[in-house]
Amino acid sequence: MSSTLLRKKSVAASIADTEDPEHGLKKEMGAGQLTIFGIGVIVGTGIFVLTGVAAAEKAGPAAPLSFVVAAIACGLAALCYAEFASSVPVAGSAYTFSYTSLGEIFAWIIGWDLILEFAFGAATVAKGWSGYFERLMDDIGIHLPSSIAGQEAGFNIPAVVIVAIVASILIVGIRESSRMNIVVVAVKLSVVLLVIVLGFFYVKTGNWSPFIPDQTAGAAKSALDEKPLIQEILGQPTSAFGVPGIFFGASLVFFAFIGFDIVATAAEETKNPQRDLPIGIFASLFICTILYVLVSLVVTGMVPYKDLGSPDAVGAPLAYAFKVNGVDWASTVISIGALAGLTSTVLILMYGQSRVFFSMGRDGLLPPWLSKVHPTYKTPYRITVITAIAVALLAAFLPLKVLGEATNIGTLFAFILVAVAVPILRKAQPDLKRPFRTPWVPLVPIAAVIACLWLMLNLPVGTWIRLVVWMAIGFVVYFLYARKHSRLARPEAEQHEPAT
Ligand code: ALA
Repeated sequence: MSSTLLRKKSVAASIADTEDPEHGLKKEMGAGQLTIFGIGVIVGTGIFVLTGVAAAEKAGPAAPLSFVVAAIACGLAALCYAEFASSVPVAGSAYTFSYTSLGEIFAWIIGWDLILEFAFGAATVAKGWSGYFERLMDDIGIHLPSSIAGQEAGFNIPAVVIVAIVASILIVGIRESSRMNIVVVAVKLSVVLLVIVLGFFYVKTGNWSPFIPDQTAGAAKSALDEKPLIQEILGQPTSAFGVPGIFFGASLVFFAFIGFDIVATAAEETKNPQRDLPIGIFASLFICTILYVLVSLVVTGMVPYKDLGSPDAVGAPLAYAFKVNGVDWASTVISIGALAGLTSTVLILMYGQSRVFFSMGRDGLLPPWLSKVHPTYKTPYRITVITAIAVALLAAFLPLKVLGEATNIGTLFAFILVAVAVPILRKAQPDLKRPFRTPWVPLVPIAAVIACLWLMLNLPVGTWIRLVVWMAIGFVVYFLYARKHSRLARPEAEQHEPAT
């Protein structure tokens, strides 16, 4: 039994799969395109929406430090991701890497976990999109009923519409998608730079003082669901601000960095993954970290941090900061830019999701008919449609915070598994060609595990419960379906035949 659970797919077989014409993807991206692709997904709801909540409820003006803490955890994880991504250049990201190194059960766990990251992440951003859409409509005098738009909506229609549009673009194909992405990323970066440069003139340094506000009792004194797990473990009451607040903020704004790992899922569609993937991952992560620190500094300088939590501000804090400073035009421009920016983020998160499903289907862990590519567009269209339906339903019904935190915990867990796998794969397959090597192994992987685990511990108890329930469902699916249908369960001679 344990040998079945730990059966591994060979790196050669993983790479050979990409040659299969019916299941292979087109190879056309370079380092520059990958970096743009990375920024396209990284800059999104995290900076446009969660910055305000992090400052108002968790860290105060020290929110930029929360971004720095989250960036350090991501940087360490990226050092591990890049080694795997460059040595196993096929679709599926951490899922594929763990299939070749840790064995099938771990690959399943990580694949199932990535579904949590990408599907919930896409739903979170679609929800953020709907908030900015509502604000923009308000600006032009159209007031959408709160039952179908906004954070309190029973069924969020704008969120469903944006998911449907994005799914259609993905089905038509990566060439069209990435061209559009370049335009959207340019708009997004212009808006972020506008916030930084124009906002700088409205900073009142008094708003930064005290930079780290005194620790106070948290809003959720009794609700265990909302209490950070670390405080529950230590038997402390729920609190906000102070030094712990910086970490609570970090575990929330971690969402803002999600996406650099998706650059790795594009390995199979990259011309020279060995060189281009590490460049794409690090360049996008580095650029975003600098932008985030500057944006959060400027915004907390423009308005008192507590105001960022007001009902007017919470859905669109960056636009709000300009509105209260009397710069209405900038507020509207930011809303338009945020809409464009969030569109590209939904697009790439759904892209990542479809590629993980694609790989799992190709390996037989999910029904193989799922991973058939479209005869004309060469995209996994069936998976894209199914992903879109799931994402639309999540975004329509669930609150932003629940979606965002579920995404964060799933992603952090995936990063930990990748970091653990680096030294294991070094031992198990020492001769594997590693165009990018993680420095100081095992120190860097150990530091990555500690940093990601620390952020996970700073997430609420309810989020942990949701992770455990999701993973339990995953185990049921694995034992009822995936284990029996895995391509590795077939006789050796049939393993390399394409799934039908
Ligand atoms: N990092 C992406 C965002 O902030 C997921 O929207």
